[in-house]
Amino acid sequence: MKKQIFALALIVETICPIHSQPKQTGNPKVISPDLVGVFFEDINYAADGGLYAELIQNRSFEYSPTDHGGWNSFTGWEYMTQGYGYGALSVETASPVHPNNPHYAVLKVEEVGQEGIGLKNSGFDGIPVKAGEKYDFSVFIAQTDGSSMPIQVKLVNKKGETLGEATFTTTSKDWRKYAATFTVNQNQDSANLVLLAKAKGKIAIDMVSLFPQNTFKNRTNGLRADLAQTIADLKPKFMRFPGGCLVHGDGVGNMYRWKNTIGPVEQRVAQKNIWGYHQTAGLGYFEYFQFCEDMGAKPLPVVPAGVSCQNSGGTWRIGGTGQKGIPQAEMPDYIQEILDLIEWANGPVTSTWGAKRAAAGHPKPFHLEYVGIGNEDKITPEFKERFKMIYDVVKAKHPEITVIGTVGPAPEGEDFELGWKFASKENVPLVDEHYYMKPEWFIANQKRYDTYDRSKSKVYLGEYASWGNTLYNALAEAAYMTSLEHNGDVVHLASYAPLLAKAGHTQWNPDMIYFNNTAIYCTANYYAQQLFSCNQGEYYYKNIVTPANNKADSTLAFSCVRDNKSGDVIIKLVNCSQSVHELNIDLKQFNKLGSKAIRTVLTGSADDKNSFEHPTKIMPVVTDFNVSRNFKYTTQPMSLTIIRVKAKK
Ligand code: AHR
Repeated sequence: MKKQIFALALIVETICPIHSQPKQTGNPKVISPDLVGVFFEDINYAADGGLYAELIQNRSFEYSPTDHGGWNSFTGWEYMTQGYGYGALSVETASPVHPNNPHYAVLKVEEVGQEGIGLKNSGFDGIPVKAGEKYDFSVFIAQTDGSSMPIQVKLVNKKGETLGEATFTTTSKDWRKYAATFTVNQNQDSANLVLLAKAKGKIAIDMVSLFPQNTFKNRTNGLRADLAQTIADLKPKFMRFPGGCLVHGDGVGNMYRWKNTIGPVEQRVAQKNIWGYHQTAGLGYFEYFQFCEDMGAKPLPVVPAGVSCQNSGGTWRIGGTGQKGIPQAEMPDYIQEILDLIEWANGPVTSTWGAKRAAAGHPKPFHLEYVGIGNEDKITPEFKERFKMIYDVVKAKHPEITVIGTVGPAPEGEDFELGWKFASKENVPLVDEHYYMKPEWFIANQKRYDTYDRSKSKVYLGEYASWGNTLYNALAEAAYMTSLEHNGDVVHLASYAPLLAKAGHTQWNPDMIYFNNTAIYCTANYYAQQLFSCNQGEYYYKNIVTPANNKADSTLAFSCVRDNKSGDVIIKLVNCSQSVHELNIDLKQFNKLGSKAIRTVLTGSADDKNSFEHPTKIMPVVTDFNVSRNFKYTTQPMSLTIIRVKAKK
């Protein structure tokens, strides 16, 4: 009997060699090649002050009390009148650099004094700089009174010592961009930037900017290199952006409109961030798409479904009456905006929007495949009407785009039910499920997708996390991820949320990656995600791993996939219990497989977690390992083990 099963398995392998498509006989099962990705939202200062490498806070004097109580145009700035100089500082709006960027500072110098007068910026909790590295400074200035004016720009430490400086002279009564590069002579976690005017007269100042030259992939207007690399190290198959609730916004006027976020940064529209701060849009759609390309991830933009967040105007998740729709008269233009996004991403350089992408430096298309419409919106008649209007046009004009619908903020309940009913009726290809639950929920619900109707919409698990950053949380998520792989024919995409959190500016816990201006630590959850994303496969094999005692136990979870490209067979073993467990691993059905494997283990005590003080308490440990065609393996308590068996060359 055993021999017969083996023979059958060999036939399956022969019919379905690793580089061709197997039939859906149940084993192996073709699963999504895009399963594990990331979800970036500008929450917790993830963008400005975070991933976006701009070091000047409130660079364009656009902060306001609407962004955050007590903020104004000079938040982050200090008026400098050292050395007996005097004059005046004000904010004006009469002749801005661009109407999208209305506020600017006006500095009137009446007496220069010994050092000049001007402005000091303290960055986002200070400006971190490194000795020997180059920094690009730029500013827009209009000389509104007096002849040309010498300007000194310098980075200073807390003692006022100069770390790097540049000087230039204004030459124009109209707005002109001045730029300088300087090398810093000292490591400093918390420098300040000082701009001093050194002659009598009046200047208008806007877009004061300082970037490290060392950005991710050395992009201009780029991303903080270490943080971007930490995300890229996840090797995500896709990146969803820009949110989250940020997408549908705090009222119709606060929706994230992609066109406001492209083009020269001084012409982009900054706005209030729904999470209680400010978004400059310096990290905009071009930068998001470019980051995806740089990481080898598919871009997955989410656009508002024509309605604002149901919690608009209230405290998060309290209320539910704030959803407002874009007026019907404006919907045709709004739908065109989404069509323009697709043209901008994929259209030829000869198209209107493709030409704008090319002008920004990317003539080749970005190969957009997915567009999300809506984010966990309340499923109301207003939502359904607008979603359908958008969806019908996108589907008709762009059948190549996979539209992702939305089914509320929870794994069940009214919006979930109504959302699924609506998506099924409209044949939406994918729907976005969200849930944040206790770790026990993830362990107990591993069969959730086993019973999903395969003829209906497929699932994008767009936001999920268990409530915590301990090893136990990470293992509960890992156990659940084995079930996502097992159901990779129905769950096409999955992304943990949120991705980033800046220490001291965190609106949402837990998160995957924590950072401050100079340090980053990855949570246990990060490593669980990484072990899955770096070990994805296109074929799922069931019954490869079985407990030696033959007893089903939800604290033990396994999966086995084969990576089409390398031919490697990847076994994932999750033990969320406090006991060791012996497992049988049967690889007899695989062809072209060697005995060499790489084993990666994430383990520790259930409550262990990483922190700034102990960033490596929970870390995967990688060792070489040998396997036979049929072997026993003992999983350690509280562990995630990946055994990647190498294909024969
Ligand atoms: O991930 C944090 C928030 O949780 C998202 O903005 C929202 O979509 C969800 O409710």
